[in-house]
Amino acid sequence: MLSEIQNRRSIRKYKNKDVEKEKILQIIDSARLSPSGSNTQPWNFIVITSETMKEKITYADHSQSWMMTAPVFIVCVADIRCRIDSNVTIWLDENSPEPELKQIIRDTSIAIEHMCLQAEHLGLSTCWTAWFNQKDLRPILGIPEDKYVCCVLTLGYNDELPKQRPRRPLNELIRYEKW
Ligand SMILES: Cc1cc2nc3c(=O)[nH]c(=O)nc-3n(C[C@H](O)[C@H](O)[C@H](O)COP(=O)(O)O)c2cc1C
Repeated sequence: MLSEIQNRRSIRKYKNKDVEKEKILQIIDSARLSPSGSNTQPWNFIVITSETMKEKITYADHSQSWMMTAPVFIVCVADIRCRIDSNVTIWLDENSPEPELKQIIRDTSIAIEHMCLQAEHLGLSTCWTAWFNQKDLRPILGIPEDKYVCCVLTLGYNDELPKQRPRRPLNELIRYEKW
């Protein structure tokens, strides 16, 4: 097993140390290489380092104050226009029934996890956060209503070493041939 898969943890306390631009680009490049249904590549990423923007995003993300210790946020945005024409009006939020929404979230989530593992490989740490509503986050970042924010990923050098969090045992997850 890749040591990155084994060792990755969600980190909620970061060192006060900037992340090298080159590493941020390497991390986002790992997302670029991830698979997606029909190769639609619905992902887009907004890199945030300004304290003012981080404060506004943290506030919208349920005021999870630990987030402010991270020097970088990567806002991970899925674009439904990879699947639905621009002349069709669409509104995406947490209650949206569009089946394509599931597909763009699925694909963007794969890309996000690539970034988590690439960050781990580069000696960095991450944490998915998704305790926000689209309507609160979109105006802060100028994100149009036909885009969906899948997560705000915190990124930085870890300042804590949590133990592995519990997981369900393998034999409980696996079924063979049918449910
Ligand atoms: C979709 C998603 C949303 C999450 N949202 C949050 C969040 O808002 N705040 C937080 O502290 N952790 C969040 N997490 C992190 C989980 O709590 C964490 O992955 C889980 O407890 C397992 O811990 P581990 O990642 O260290 O193995 C989220 C994880 C995922 C995958």
